[in-house]
Amino acid sequence: MQTQILKFLKESEGYVSGEEISRRCGMSRAAIWKYMQELRQEGFDVVAVPHLGYKLVATPDKLLPSEIQHGLRTQYLGKKIIYEDTVPSTMDVAFRLGMEGAVEGTLVCAEGQTKGKGRLGRQWSSPKGKGIYMSVVLRPSLPLTEVAQLTLLAAVAVCEAVRRVSSVEARIKWPNDILVENRKLAGILTELSAETDRVRFVVIGIGINVNTSVSVLPPQATSLKEEAQKKMSRVELLQEILLELETWYERLKKQGFAPVVERWKELSSTLGKRVRLVDPGGEVEGEAVDLDKTGALMIRNDAGLIVSKIAGDVVQVR
Ligand code: BTN
Repeated sequence: MQTQILKFLKESEGYVSGEEISRRCGMSRAAIWKYMQELRQEGFDVVAVPHLGYKLVATPDKLLPSEIQHGLRTQYLGKKIIYEDTVPSTMDVAFRLGMEGAVEGTLVCAEGQTKGKGRLGRQWSSPKGKGIYMSVVLRPSLPLTEVAQLTLLAAVAVCEAVRRVSSVEARIKWPNDILVENRKLAGILTELSAETDRVRFVVIGIGINVNTSVSVLPPQATSLKEEAQKKMSRVELLQEILLELETWYERLKKQGFAPVVERWKELSSTLGKRVRLVDPGGEVEGEAVDLDKTGALMIRNDAGLIVSKIAGDVVQVR
């Protein structure tokens, strides 16, 4: 009901009388007045003028579920949203929800994180109210060996969404860092729960530096505001990410992994570069020549041998 009032306020050009809201939403005038107070506490600027009614003048710069869901064009991603002001990590919240049976598409997002997690045990800097820190629960029917596909798929989705809402030419560094030239804009972390060879659920965590000042970010990191030279709407970008993620996920289910690989290659900043890949098995240096059909990076080493790696940390040497 409250979402309906907010939607109604957003879609109205001028003032809407309490009587009209009451009639349309089936709520008492007192309940409406109380809800307007709640909206103001959340940061919405609602003006009330006697005899005219209510008018929404400004919405808060927050990732509130009502804001995300207003105009969201997905079928199931983000239909259930858990919103937190500050959490240690959205990954842990989403993982717990996954264990408790959360529906596919459940989104956890937070304004800030105190223990944001990056790949390979690193930290993810998550200043409050500036970036997007989100985790999505998926329940794919993929064998365990193919879950890495979702990581590359998420990179394609984030890269497409960034390009669509901004003028920034984001690219993907293998496997799933989103870069602008060689500056890191966003990162993706995948965690999963499985039993023997069956995946119970996967949590895709996405962190994007949106309106973050580079002075609070690690060296080599950038933000959309820095690259586009203007403040961006976090809500709009998050909606676009959900839409891209769902579109690519559905494509994966229907057409398999090949279209993801194809688009990943087009968006890649790694292919054709000289790279050094480090994994528990050692180090490989050479030219990144291709991505194979499983998503592994194919590197031609200096002896001319092709080495394929499905995981690891890549440094683009030049
Ligand atoms: C990386 O590039 O190292 C991956 C970074 C992933 C960061 C996101 S922010 C939302 C989610 N919660 C976390 O703790 N990590 C991911």
